[in-house]
Amino acid sequence: MLEELRAVVGDENVSDDAADRYVYGSDASMHQSSPSVVVRPVSAGEVQKILRFANGRKIPVVPRGAGTGESGSAVPIDGGIVLDLKRMDRILEVRPEDMFCRVEPGVVNDELNRQLKPYGFFFPPTPASGKVCTIGGMIANNASGMRAMKYGATRDAVLGLKVVLANGDLVTMGSATIIQASGYQLERLMVGSEGTLGVIVEATLRVRPLPEERTVGRAVFYELTQAGDAISKIVATGIVPSALELMDEVAIKSVNKALGAGLPEVEALILFECDGVKASFHHEIKKIKRILEECGAFDIVISDDPQEMEKLWEVRSSVFPATSMYKENRIRATLAEDVTAPVSRLRELVEGIHQIARDNDLLIGTYGHAGEGLIHTAFLVDPRLPDEWDRTRKAVDEVFALVRHLGGTTSGEHGIGISKAPYFKKERQDLLELMRGVKKVFDPNNILNPHKLMDAPEDFFTATKLRYPIKERR
Ligand code: LAC
Ligand code: ZN
Repeated sequence: MLEELRAVVGDENVSDDAADRYVYGSDASMHQSSPSVVVRPVSAGEVQKILRFANGRKIPVVPRGAGTGESGSAVPIDGGIVLDLKRMDRILEVRPEDMFCRVEPGVVNDELNRQLKPYGFFFPPTPASGKVCTIGGMIANNASGMRAMKYGATRDAVLGLKVVLANGDLVTMGSATIIQASGYQLERLMVGSEGTLGVIVEATLRVRPLPEERTVGRAVFYELTQAGDAISKIVATGIVPSALELMDEVAIKSVNKALGAGLPEVEALILFECDGVKASFHHEIKKIKRILEECGAFDIVISDDPQEMEKLWEVRSSVFPATSMYKENRIRATLAEDVTAPVSRLRELVEGIHQIARDNDLLIGTYGHAGEGLIHTAFLVDPRLPDEWDRTRKAVDEVFALVRHLGGTTSGEHGIGISKAPYFKKERQDLLELMRGVKKVFDPNNILNPHKLMDAPEDFFTATKLRYPIKERR
C-alpha cells in the first residue's frame, strides 16, 4: 500500500510514522483511533488515483481538513488512509462581479477572508476556529459560527462543488451562478455529509460585500436567565444583528484566566454586533440596548473602535480552548457541545442544562451563538473517575432529551461524527434507511469515512479509545 501511494503523491507525502499516525488519529473530540497511513495529495488528479486504488482494495479513506471537529468526524474508526487535504490550499479565482470565488478545500477560512478583503467582499461563516479551519472541513460539516444569524451557515454559501467519488470519478455539482434550478441539488447533499459521500476537491462559494460599518456591544447580567430572556426578546422584535452571543460565568472566568481578558465575573454576558450602514442600524442598537436594560443588564459598553471590537471577538473565539484551564484536573468533554433549540426556548434550554448540572453534581459551562438558539456546553469533568464519568454520560442523555423536548436538534454546527451518533439516530429515526440508501449509491464498498453518522457504533466509548483513559473498574 505504501509503495502504491508513494508513487501517486511522492515519498514525502506518505507517512506511516508512529507520531503522525497518533496525531492523525484524533481531532478536537475525545476519540482516538489511528490510521494505517497519512497521505497528503496536492491535486484532484492525485485524489482520484488514491480513491481508485483504495476502492479496488476496499481500504477506508477519511478526508481531513484541520482536525478542529469536536465530534470525531475525522477520526478513522476503521483505520486505513487519512487524506490530509491541507496542501490543496489555492484560491483559484475571485470574481466579485459574479459574487463568487473558487477555492481548493485546504484554504483556511481567515486566509480566504484576508484575500477577499481588497475586493471589498467576505465569506460570511465565522467559526471560532477560523484561524485554522479549512473550507473543505467547513463544507463537510456545514459549519456556521457567529454570523449565521444574519448571513446563514456554510450551506447557504455553497454554489457548486467538484467532488471525487469513491470510485475515483470527478464530478461537478451545482453551478457558478447565484441561482440554479437544474434538478437534484447534490452539492447540498454533500454539505454536512462529513466525508461519507465523496471528497470535495473544489468549491465555488458565494461571497458578500463587506459591510461599510460595524458596531459591537457588551452587556452583563447578574442572572443567566435574564440574559436568555433578553436574547429571545431581541430576536422576536425582528432585529437581525450580525451576531448575538452568550457567555456564562464559566466561560467568562475561563477567558479571564487564560487571556487576562478582565471581563466582569457575573453570571452572564451578552455580546452583539450590528453591521451595514450606521445610519440605518443605529436605531437597532438603541432598541437592543433598551431590551437589554429591561431584562436587567448593566454596564452596557458599545464600541466601533476596530481594536476594541477585535479584542472582544478574540475573547469570544477563545472560550473553547480557555475552558480547559478553568479548573485543574478537569478536561472538557466534547459530548453534547452544540445543542440547538428554537431561539424562543433559549431560557428553558440554558436553565435546563444548568439544572441537569446541579442534579448530577457536575460543572457545565454554557455559551455560544444564542441568537441562533445554539448553546455550547463545556462539561468540565475528570473522565478518569468512574463515578464522575457515569454521571457525565447520564447528564449528556438528559441534555439531548431536553433538546428533543424543546423541538431542537442534536447538532447546530459541529456535526455528528461518532460522539453524537446515538442521539442523531434517535432524532432521524425515520430517515436512517433512506440515508443508508444514499450512502450505498455514492459509496457501494463503504470506504468513505465508514461507521459515522447513521452507521456509527452504538457504544462508541468502546469502539474508539478515549484520549483520556478512564480508570479500570473493579
Ligand atoms: C465556538 C466553537 C466551540 O463557537 O464552535 O466557540
Ligand atoms: Zn460555535
